[in-house]
Amino acid sequence: MGVNMTNTDKMNTAQKVVIYGCGLYGRGLLFPLICQYGKTVIAYVDKDEKLWGSDYRGVPVKAPEELKQMDYDLVLISVNHPVMIEEIKEELRRLDVSGEKVCEIMPDIRYLDLFYDQRIYWIQDYARWIYEKGIQGNVAECGVFKGDSAKFLNKFFPDRKLYLFDTFEGFSDLDLKAEKELGNEEFNNSVFANTPIFDETSVSFVMKKMTYPGNVIVKKGYFPDSANGVEDKFCFINLDMDLYVPMLSALRFFWDKVEPGGAVILHDYFKPELPGVKEAVAVFEKEHLEKEGHGINKVPVGDGCSIVLLKDM
Ligand SMILES: C[S@@+](CC[C@H](N)C(=O)[O-])C[C@H]1O[C@@H](n2cnc3c(N)ncnc32)[C@H](O)[C@@H]1O
Repeated sequence: MGVNMTNTDKMNTAQKVVIYGCGLYGRGLLFPLICQYGKTVIAYVDKDEKLWGSDYRGVPVKAPEELKQMDYDLVLISVNHPVMIEEIKEELRRLDVSGEKVCEIMPDIRYLDLFYDQRIYWIQDYARWIYEKGIQGNVAECGVFKGDSAKFLNKFFPDRKLYLFDTFEGFSDLDLKAEKELGNEEFNNSVFANTPIFDETSVSFVMKKMTYPGNVIVKKGYFPDSANGVEDKFCFINLDMDLYVPMLSALRFFWDKVEPGGAVILHDYFKPELPGVKEAVAVFEKEHLEKEGHGINKVPVGDGCSIVLLKDM
């Protein structure tokens, strides 16, 4: 193998890995790389000098220049924005890192294979539980992007309707403005606040991934407006819209429509860059407590990122 190695080849042959980027994606990659892929992660490198000298779960975070002193097989670029990937590659060339030792997650290593496995297994098990318990209702996802979690929902619930809510054009300017006004520095400095990251998708692209396309009802547009007229009951909802305003709207819209024993999973609850998700849950719980006189059962999912709200049986 040589200069024409694909990213997958590089991943398969490497043992000692440096993750470039200790942000959202890089941190999420650590356990899958170690536990599923059996790699040794020797360090993170990151341009953010505030991180230099710190560690993430015991893995040191260093300056990219320190690659010169490191013994590694692969630098895994853990961002998925094309412009940033090119900038990082350019910097690695400047640091004399051989192209054979540079791997980007996109496009030919499926990001979800690395990052989301734990959540997907959890959803699969919960679907089994729903069938075993005879819980009725349909399934919905708010925040679909390229359909990489929607395709699993479609597969795991073969006899349920699957509603897919997304603008399919990325965040709305209004939601983004509201999020920035929350004044959270981690969010305001993050890629979510400063780059259009979810606009490269389409309904037809997503639909090609579905095992049972006849079950899918696409609701393209701004949520919650796109949910007007939806009166179904639901057994499982995946909320993944990242921001405070739509996540709170979704909790308010769906919770009373969830069947006993059903679940609402919220991605990004534990992600510091997306504090609006935790805030939305807190506000919704307070409203629920005032209205119903009791709280809502919620537990972490185990993917380092998501929480689930459980409807009492
Ligand atoms: C993190 S992505 C979803 C990722 C997807 N669940 C996956 O696993 O690949 C967030 C999505 O939420 C959508 N979104 C955010 N706010 C929205 C709103 N108010 N209405 C509709 N879609 C929205 C964005 O367009 C984006 O595609």
